[in-house]
Amino acid sequence: MAVDKSRQDSHRVAISGDVEVSAYLEIAEERRGEQPQEEPEEQFGAEREVVAVVDFGSQYSWLIARRVRECRVYCEVVPHDAPWESVASLQPKGFILSGSPASVCDAGAPMAPAYVYESSLPVLGICYGMQLIAHQLGGKVAPGVKHEYGLAILHQNSVDTPLFAGLPLEMPVWMSHGDWIEEMPPGFTSLAYTDNSPIAAMGNDRGIIGLQFHPEVAHTPQGKDILQNFLYRICGCSGTWTPGSFVVESIERIKNQVGTGKVICALSGGVDSAVVATLIHRAIGNQLTCIFVNTGLLRREEAERINNTFQKNMRMNMVYVDASERFLTRLSGVVDPEDKRHIIGEEFVKVFEEEAAKIGRVDFLAQGTLYPDVIESAFTGSRVVATIKTHHNVGGLPSVMNLALVEPLRYLFKDEVREVGLALGLPEEMVYRQPFPGPGLAIRIIGEVTKERLEIVRAADWIVMNEIKKANLYRQLWQSFAVLTPLRSVGVMGDSRTYGYMVAVRAVTSEDAMTADWARLPYDLLARISSRIVNEVPEINRVVYDISSKPPSTIEWE
Ligand code: XMP
Repeated sequence: MAVDKSRQDSHRVAISGDVEVSAYLEIAEERRGEQPQEEPEEQFGAEREVVAVVDFGSQYSWLIARRVRECRVYCEVVPHDAPWESVASLQPKGFILSGSPASVCDAGAPMAPAYVYESSLPVLGICYGMQLIAHQLGGKVAPGVKHEYGLAILHQNSVDTPLFAGLPLEMPVWMSHGDWIEEMPPGFTSLAYTDNSPIAAMGNDRGIIGLQFHPEVAHTPQGKDILQNFLYRICGCSGTWTPGSFVVESIERIKNQVGTGKVICALSGGVDSAVVATLIHRAIGNQLTCIFVNTGLLRREEAERINNTFQKNMRMNMVYVDASERFLTRLSGVVDPEDKRHIIGEEFVKVFEEEAAKIGRVDFLAQGTLYPDVIESAFTGSRVVATIKTHHNVGGLPSVMNLALVEPLRYLFKDEVREVGLALGLPEEMVYRQPFPGPGLAIRIIGEVTKERLEIVRAADWIVMNEIKKANLYRQLWQSFAVLTPLRSVGVMGDSRTYGYMVAVRAVTSEDAMTADWARLPYDLLARISSRIVNEVPEINRVVYDISSKPPSTIEWE
């Protein structure tokens, strides 16, 4: 490894003790041009460009990562105390230091690790990241005269700053900080100012740059261009990370990991498992067996669609298990939503294990873990949260199976998974499918799940879906579906009195399901949905539209 550990450690002390910074910079200077000599853990294509986002606990770190990826540069978020070894394996072309709720003026505030400066790679410090650069490299940070939150106008100090290339000399930026830079570190010049921040951007000739504002948020309209300038003009990236390049790399990686081993994968019909299965199948063909458990709780035509795509079209090794009766039997008499989830999760694992045992020797279990899951478990550790719903019970497969995991999507965000799905040639219908909960229609039937109620909600749901698609709204909505309530009400059809079920239609918009707003569907569309449901589903005589948002409601009714 290029970095001399003993010197690195002693310099860490110097840095956090805020003295001898110039000595520190000399060492960084000596090291300029040195490259880590260790072999990276994984070999990627020659074109691979990676930037590491060093996280100091900012709510925006993940947003930075997303924006960087939107510039077609691969990046990973690493905790501020990540050891050099784990970061070196990424072979980064630059670092981005995130913001933080902390203040560099506080004792014990998290510092950037020594290798960030020693690597001689470009560094972009955002907000707290900028203050860290100032603090650690010999400048001065102090609490600002007044806090600066919200929009400010950034004025560039010169016309030829690479970071702002192609951008107007004045532009709106989003500020959110209490501390400010009182004195820049030696060798730095001020690149821009706002009314309240005389040093709103600074840089040195080694490509270490600080921004007091947040380029990653939508409120900084030119923020993505600024990030792209940093990535392309300062880190030397060219934007080679595309869904296609991801597919090529992943196939290579899967082949290396699996060798001649056998892999099983649970298909759910969702985009994640579909993309995982397709990628792995491309890499190792018939060494992969997919298991698709029909719980009987799926939407209309879902099981057939999965069969057609994977078994007929892609010719995957696929085991189809119709376990509907088993699930129905276990759910008989159960009304509590969490009990339903628990039973369905448990039964799913049992069926899956039974089928896996029939396959014979298996070495790997494929899973559709995504980057937000990785981040959540890596960074939030033992955070205590109240259980509202135990969401991840289905498809969360048995650890007792003791299989090594293949998780080709573990560094992707959801929208990237969709792009990869398209690059793999999966049908758009599957790639853009709205999320569907693991326990399926069981949690869209309030009260006991019976065969009859399943048929009713399935029929109503089909009409909702159908009309939403015809109105071209399917992709704009996060989810849209029908919920069967246990309420019955009096109605009149022809000359007769009816006493039928009431169904609720739910349609929401959302970014990530953490919050959701009820969708303002056109009245005419609601009218068509309602009229079709009462006409085509004889057991239903009343349709209501759910106009509650999350919070305080949740998306699903159970
Ligand atoms: P809520 O109802 O909590 O739902 O607002 C947020 C998102 O999670 C989905 N959901 C589930 N997904 N198992 C799942 O796999 C579950 O038990 C479950 N419950 C809710 C829901 O459809 C929405 O997208």
